Amino acid sequence: MAHEENKAFLRRVPLFTVLSESQLEILAAGTVRRNYPKGRTIVAEGEPSQSLYILLSGRAKVQRSDSEGKEVILAVLMSGEFFGEMSLIDDAPRSASVITLESCDFLAINKENFKAMLSQNAELGMSVMRGLVRRLREADKKIETLALLDVYGRVARVLLDFSENVGGERIVKSKLPRQEIAKMIGASREMVSRVMKGLEIDGYIVSLPEGKLALREKIHSYIS
Ligand code: CMP
Repeated sequence: MAHEENKAFLRRVPLFTVLSESQLEILAAGTVRRNYPKGRTIVAEGEPSQSLYILLSGRAKVQRSDSEGKEVILAVLMSGEFFGEMSLIDDAPRSASVITLESCDFLAINKENFKAMLSQNAELGMSVMRGLVRRLREADKKIETLALLDVYGRVARVLLDFSENVGGERIVKSKLPRQEIAKMIGASREMVSRVMKGLEIDGYIVSLPEGKLALREKIHSYIS
């Protein structure tokens, strides 16, 4: 039963639309579905890899930390995205930790089953590469942000990246704690609070109910 359910979930994942029924069958045989609450580690930096993961719902952060416990958030993963592919490809330890930001449903796919599919299906390899290239482009953008923008520009870039178009307005719908923004841009939480306050007073952002934010057009001036 779980096997059939997992196969149905796998069939809906964009990465796997290129697989045949029999290939999905093999993948499903080594797949388990899990739900983790907020704040749980799915993948731990430095550990050996066993699985590839697909986020079915919820958001998770990709985070690295140094020996003093200082943390940097490299990315926030959304539902539909895969992760854990890096150490699966090069057999090195996990490059970062992946930690749930809210309740998350995900699939864990056995490493060997996935590798067998990669060698059988060139289109799957291309899809994984497309995902890696997209991440490299986002990482390049992040390096540019950190190197060229001041702290106002960095906060503005994060807010714009997390916003979506709602009836012609840029709205940040999901809660974005200041501590998390700070870890994305290499600033302190206090500094982020000060910048957000400044942006609000000067009319670049407007607080809405339920922790949502509306971004005004002029916020673009900070990143151009
Ligand atoms: P892996 O190294 O196996 O385990 C940690 C995972 O985090 C990694 O595979 C990628 O899936 C993901 N990851 C690492 N760096 C980034 C990044 N810059 N952007 C998005 N995801 C990343």
